[in-house]
Amino acid sequence: MKVLVTGGLGFIGSHTVVELQNVGFEVVIIDDLSNSSEEVLNGITSITGKTPIFEKLDLKEKSKVEDFFKKYDDIEGVIHFAASKAVGESVELPLLYYENNIGTLVYILKELSKKDKAGFIFSSSCTVYGQADKMPITEDAPVKSAESPYGNTKQVGEEIIRDTCKVTPSLQAIALRYFNPMGAHPSAKIGELPIGVPQNLVPFITQTGVGLREKLSVFGDDYPTKDGTCVRDYIHVVDLAKAHVVALQRLLEGKNKENYEVFNVGTGTGSTVLEVINSFEKVSGKKLNYQIVDRREGDITAAYADTAKANNELGWKAESTLDEAMKSAWDWEVKVRS
Ligand code: UD1
Repeated sequence: MKVLVTGGLGFIGSHTVVELQNVGFEVVIIDDLSNSSEEVLNGITSITGKTPIFEKLDLKEKSKVEDFFKKYDDIEGVIHFAASKAVGESVELPLLYYENNIGTLVYILKELSKKDKAGFIFSSSCTVYGQADKMPITEDAPVKSAESPYGNTKQVGEEIIRDTCKVTPSLQAIALRYFNPMGAHPSAKIGELPIGVPQNLVPFITQTGVGLREKLSVFGDDYPTKDGTCVRDYIHVVDLAKAHVVALQRLLEGKNKENYEVFNVGTGTGSTVLEVINSFEKVSGKKLNYQIVDRREGDITAAYADTAKANNELGWKAESTLDEAMKSAWDWEVKVRS
């Protein structure tokens, strides 16, 4: 069965391609290489022994998207990762984010709507909940008004899919709301490769560990949490990748209950920033140079998932611990810098 993975050379995309190939899917990747590298294909191939088909294509070019779906008319499912994801940049360049994240989504949905049957998985984010009133966060927690254009693209993206599914019974879709992805493939052949200074916690920690950054700034220790630092639900990227595979299988096998569904994808465990640092120190055997600084604007106090719906409906559960995920992130960082 042939599936398209957009952004398939990126961080979460590449790990998902591996898991799809592991269970026998034939994968076609679209990537514009704006935030990834063609070398990732070699990493994927050396893990699975299979080279996915790769089309370098900018999804903003509508006619190329149409041509692509004509060429690959046997694609049965799409996992759509391709998007811009830097929160700060989205505030500076909102139209870039709306064009990249919303325009391309519309083009793909238009093509899928022409098919007799199609499955679609969308990369959403726990950012849609903002600071939820209750922990852990269930899927029916209210969607709060977005803090940034990036966050808004995830909310609006979900609405576009929901509205399209309402009038397109042949389209089956699932939005996966990711918590905080981290880590790398245990082989250390693929992993996260942030361009420039990492904005996210774990790559900043591992880059500090290898000496690429001098010191980690911990954004605030006066939050109402057990040690004063923010709480997040860190999920191993391989577990997250497997969630995509089971979600797609659910759609292709017709096991979904509605033609648009939403699932949280997290571990269900919240960890503070200091606990993440401790995990790094434990698995690397290194002391991390860090300093407590002021809060970062826009940060919420805590977010961790209620995973019951994903566990029960998808039959999926995150398996890795924070230490295992951190070990994989560290092994990857050491390998990339050696
Ligand atoms: C961020 C985005 C979120 C997006 C996700 C994608 C914000 C406010 N949220 O989530 O919308 O979906 O990335 O990956 O940007 N931290 C430090 N020092 C650092 C970096 C982070 O202390 O140098 C802390 C943060 O305060 C936070 C935690 O680490 O408590 C995780 O931060 P980060 O990795 O940026 O993820 P989120 O903010 O949860």
